[in-house]
Amino acid sequence: MNKLYFGDNLDVLKELHEKYPSGLVDLIYIDPPFNSKRNYNVLFESIDLSDTKAQKEAFADTWSNVSYLDTLNEIKEFDLDLYNFLNALDQIRLSKGVISYLSIMAIRIWYMHKVLKDTGSFYLHCDPTMSHYLKLVCDLIFGKKNFRNEIIWHYRKWPSGNRQFQRNHDILLFYSKEENTGRVFNKIDLMERTSSTLKRFGKSKIISSYDKNGNRLPSQVEDRESLGVPRDDVWDISRVPPVKQLFPTEKPRALLSRIIRASSNKGDLVADFCCGCGTTIAVAESLNRNWIGVDISHLATRLITKRLIDTYGRQVKNTFEVFGFPKDIASAKELATGTKGGRLKFEEWIIEVMLHGVLNQQRTQIGFDGYLTFDIQGTKETVLIEVKSGNVNLPQVNHFITTVKEKNAGVGVFVCFKEQITSGMRQTAKKQGYYLEKFFGSNYDKIQIITVEDLLEDKMINIPTSTKGTFKTAVRDNKKNNKQTTFL
Ligand SMILES: C[S@@+](CC[C@H](N)C(=O)[O-])C[C@H]1O[C@@H](n2cnc3c(N)ncnc32)[C@H](O)[C@@H]1O
Repeated sequence: MNKLYFGDNLDVLKELHEKYPSGLVDLIYIDPPFNSKRNYNVLFESIDLSDTKAQKEAFADTWSNVSYLDTLNEIKEFDLDLYNFLNALDQIRLSKGVISYLSIMAIRIWYMHKVLKDTGSFYLHCDPTMSHYLKLVCDLIFGKKNFRNEIIWHYRKWPSGNRQFQRNHDILLFYSKEENTGRVFNKIDLMERTSSTLKRFGKSKIISSYDKNGNRLPSQVEDRESLGVPRDDVWDISRVPPVKQLFPTEKPRALLSRIIRASSNKGDLVADFCCGCGTTIAVAESLNRNWIGVDISHLATRLITKRLIDTYGRQVKNTFEVFGFPKDIASAKELATGTKGGRLKFEEWIIEVMLHGVLNQQRTQIGFDGYLTFDIQGTKETVLIEVKSGNVNLPQVNHFITTVKEKNAGVGVFVCFKEQITSGMRQTAKKQGYYLEKFFGSNYDKIQIITVEDLLEDKMINIPTSTKGTFKTAVRDNKKNNKQTTFL
């Protein structure tokens, strides 16, 4: 069973290491947030929803909240060299941001090395602002001899700034867990041998040269093809055009496909511990690899689920398990009473994860917890949501009804546990009548009371289906068309 975790990758890594002390993963690719000034609140800039402000705020930059000194002390317990290196950096004039980023990365990379099988490969995607620091960290963790490549992913983008050359590449640091054991490559992807591969490289890679009489010599790529020389470490792959992005930091499928084909076989386990909108997962799925994905943003985890369903159909849901969200009423109650720790609050879970709505950031002052919108013939209507985690009484329902009227909302949704609902509450709700959707002439209960139990059983509120989806839709993919050629 494939696994998708909502949570901090460090927790997942520790758990995996404890369960599988000798490693379980064949290939790890990570593309963590870069340590740039970028505000990761805007990670989901391209969400296809008009009211995105609140959504975006859910994507707080997770790296900055952790005390790096605590992390350094933890590292000291198990890797003194790594600790000494980081501590030395801490003593010199580098910004605290660098050392904080590096220690947070170092502890995670240390555990990633642990969860790799001895034959496993590791790719760290980073940019030139951090790659040189990260390489030292990886050299210490993997051992210098296990460094395989610094891969340059070269792309083109809209030119900006004129004080330096255009910054048009990212860096992938590639390590193997052990120097000579096991398979590091699948040869077919290491070698530039097939004409289709040559085509993918484009003409610019065919370097022509001439003899002293001016006669053209066979191009280098042709020579390489016949000799079976490994592909080089500069990869020209286009970025995902912004209009096609499901996610602003989305990496191209072609990049992940090259990595996964090169360093894993069918049936191997591929893991991405910062999986964002799930490019690694989507490609691993299409190449018949098993996968583990982790992301600290619950919106990212939801987006991946949707991406897989859009691409492979609903049945794909039976092939993976999602961790980190309440699955039954007992864990929902734990979250509601605050006894279950974690980042996710009960209201957030109900509104964003279960109802796909937007959290009301001012919910303590303004009397509703969240909302959804839908369009009827160009007119925007609102669905207000109120979530109760504890005791509920009739005055609370009446208060919510007043808010729905005051805000002129189309529908109001009141969520609570089943045992809290009385017949008086149901009758009061029913008395509020209907929202009439004029285009199709359908009626929807104006005030709907839905239980947490219902939501866990996949029942949904009853509102017009033109409700705008929160995320863009991934293109459908037929796995059968994606069969990988047999390996050499
Ligand atoms: C640059 S994006 C990855 C994009 C991804 N490669 C793709 O193609 O969609 C980095 C991701 O790392 C996630 N992240 C940041 N800190 C994390 C942590 N501690 N644990 C798990 N995921 C984390 C962020 O939520 C974000 O989605």
